[in-house]
Amino acid sequence: MAERKPIVGGNWKMNMTRDGATQLCHSLLLEAVEPQIDTEIVLYPPYVWLTDAATILSESFIRLGAQDGLAESNGAITGGVSLTMLSELVDALLVGHSERRSIFSETTDKFSQQLVSALDMNLLTTYCIGENQTEQESGLTYQVLEEQIGSVFEGATGHHLAQAVNKNPGALVIAYEPVWAIGTGLVAQPTDVQDRAEFIRKEISNYCDAPQLIRIQYGGSVTQKNAGDFAALKDVDGALVGGASLNAEDFLSICRAFSVGKH
Ligand code: 13P
Repeated sequence: MAERKPIVGGNWKMNMTRDGATQLCHSLLLEAVEPQIDTEIVLYPPYVWLTDAATILSESFIRLGAQDGLAESNGAITGGVSLTMLSELVDALLVGHSERRSIFSETTDKFSQQLVSALDMNLLTTYCIGENQTEQESGLTYQVLEEQIGSVFEGATGHHLAQAVNKNPGALVIAYEPVWAIGTGLVAQPTDVQDRAEFIRKEISNYCDAPQLIRIQYGGSVTQKNAGDFAALKDVDGALVGGASLNAEDFLSICRAFSVGKH
């Protein structure tokens, strides 16, 4: 049995009508039955469809997550949704997605607090990192990854984070998503992805006693055609899928590729 169970996430981002969302959940449940997929599957719909998705997916093997959530439990934060609220509906969370970094100008302080709170609440917590195009072209990829990992482990919150990760390393997932590959159809070279995943695991070992238990996903234009290339990589344990997660057949093909590739 593999040390790390493969994990594929479907990040729907700001997509789907209510009807589309419920249909996709139903299709996934119907089509995933045969052949059995031995991959952990997590869906991240927009907030407004979480209740519908939670009802449809309850008692199923498909887990539900939120695309963001605030560490503050409640208060005067117009438009805010807290992890405390979300934890009544979901058991997973995305933190630090590049679109949160670029569109909402969010930074390490928020991510570090979210990671700690989410892990303290026993949420399956995925921290997204990755270099942008300029950084890649300037040869800064490894420096960026080191900084994005190291910065969340700094200070008192970072210390608390390291403790939470050591308590349950299986609850932390790192998604390596090169920004230039997201939604562009440009895919990172599998050999590069393996090198980066290995580097990420080494960096994590500075803060965690069991880095071999932390799962690493690749994200960025993953499709049913290229999923097998990533599933074959030693240090890559799954994928975080955007566009292709909006179609049940495509998404499940990716889940199957990791199920087959890792067993
Ligand atoms: P795409 O699969 O659409 O490139 O999106 C990747 C992503 O950002 C998942 O979080």
